[in-house]
Amino acid sequence: MRVAEAFQAAYGRPADVVWHAPGRVNLIGEHTDYNDGFVLPYALPWGVTAAVSPRDDATVRLFSLQSPGDPTTVTAYPESTGWTRYVVGVLWALREAGHQIPGADIAVDGDVPQGAGLSSSAALEVAVASALNDLYSLGLSPLDLALVSQKAENDFVGMPCGIMDQAASALSKEGHALFLDCRTLGTRPVPLDLASAGLELLIVDTGVHHELADGQYARRRQDCENAARHLGLKSLRDVTDLAAALSELTGDERKRTQHVVTENHRVEAVVGLLRASASQEIGALLNASHISLRDQYEVSCAELDVAVEAAVRGGARGARMTGGGFGGSAIALVPADRLDSVRTEITGAYTRNSWAPPRFLQAPPSAGARRVS
Ligand code: GLA
Repeated sequence: MRVAEAFQAAYGRPADVVWHAPGRVNLIGEHTDYNDGFVLPYALPWGVTAAVSPRDDATVRLFSLQSPGDPTTVTAYPESTGWTRYVVGVLWALREAGHQIPGADIAVDGDVPQGAGLSSSAALEVAVASALNDLYSLGLSPLDLALVSQKAENDFVGMPCGIMDQAASALSKEGHALFLDCRTLGTRPVPLDLASAGLELLIVDTGVHHELADGQYARRRQDCENAARHLGLKSLRDVTDLAAALSELTGDERKRTQHVVTENHRVEAVVGLLRASASQEIGALLNASHISLRDQYEVSCAELDVAVEAAVRGGARGARMTGGGFGGSAIALVPADRLDSVRTEITGAYTRNSWAPPRFLQAPPSAGARRVS
């Protein structure tokens, strides 16, 4: 394995443990996780592999095969920058939770498409958290490791994300999407066998990331928290009468609430259809999710809208943006015999807009974090 060889070459000793954790794509349930709602992601065949050995001093040495150069040595938290923050953040979060972790030598290797909104950072966090858990016999469950990883991202990196990405990376099962109730943190694997229905899930990486994304994510969270407070509820998950709730709200709070509540219903409907082996029926729900994210939640962008509309014109059963928005990827549910026509339609639409062609990816639902050596 490449990362184990690189570890040996850099540190002059073998890695004690090597763990792999995947990126994710979200089938449906967008911007619901931090509203105590429902999500339905699945793990990708791409991820991050982390090779780790213990140290008995407090030093952390780390390098990535994606960032050539000598290992970085981190002896104090503020020294970490760039991608190393995700790794050092996990160590910090484990120590904050009371675990005795001295230092570590770490090497990581990743193949999640970068900047595609497919959770390469969650994969990095969960791979490192899983490896340290194993190495130091911390006894943490996969869910605990997802929570530690989320804490690293929230409180160390400073991105106020929900739990979806880390949970998908830690808990997914091969051949299944992961239904997660973000309030109870209860999960249920949902069989996802699109091929037997003659369908493929096409991921369309727009290749763009609009810079406003970062501040907008926190603002959407704030809108939702304000709306819940106005309604006297703990979170938007607790809305039981949407019409009554909407009549009490105005402006952005009203729009965000409409999205979150209807999106939760769509997740439950998709889970029901998949369990009934009716995957060919979920397309309309994907389309409705996109329209809601575009018009009510206002997190789409021209490149995502064009990809989604062209996919449907080309014969997709349904399509939507996936992930946080403002760029990243869209997904399209496509009959296998329409794949070429969907790709051609999307590429043509991008060309007409003078945009660089998007990248197309196809990925089976894969396993969550696992030890690989
Ligand atoms: C990002 C966050 C997730 C989730 C999605 C939107 O991926 O990391 O927690 O909120 O956006 O569904």
